[in-house]
Amino acid sequence: MKRKRPVITMGLVAIFMSMISGCTGASLPPGDAVRGKALFADTTLGTSGNSCNTCHTDMGRGEKSLVGKRPFEHTIRDCIQSGLQGDPGNEQAVADLKAYVESL
Ligand code: HEC
Repeated sequence: MKRKRPVITMGLVAIFMSMISGCTGASLPPGDAVRGKALFADTTLGTSGNSCNTCHTDMGRGEKSLVGKRPFEHTIRDCIQSGLQGDPGNEQAVADLKAYVESL
């Protein structure tokens, strides 16, 4: 039984590290606000026929305004998944959309 402990400990460390990197966004590729702007209005990012602009109108400046927001990566993933029925694991799209929202 004692032999298993290091394995469990390493497993916990790995889970902890992945939680930290998830929170800081350290795993995201560099984002591009120009690409993010195009994605924000792209109704083909998901399968629902919506774009981010459907709910965050006027390119994020109208209803549900995103102006001045420091967007969390997980919020963007949630919106891609539930709002667009898209792939929340699309790292480049998350990075580009984050860069765009930060530029508002
Ligand atoms: C079906 C509607 C819908 C769609 C589509 C949608 N969102 Fe959202 N989003 C919401 C709602 C509702 C909230 C909750 C807070 C609010 O009312 O602003 C939210 C919150 C957010 C926030 C956090 C705002 C804050 O107050 O900090 C960000 C950032 C965001 N969305 C980005 C996006 C991006 C990027 C997309 C496109 C991938 C997107 N959203 C698509 C409905 C939507």
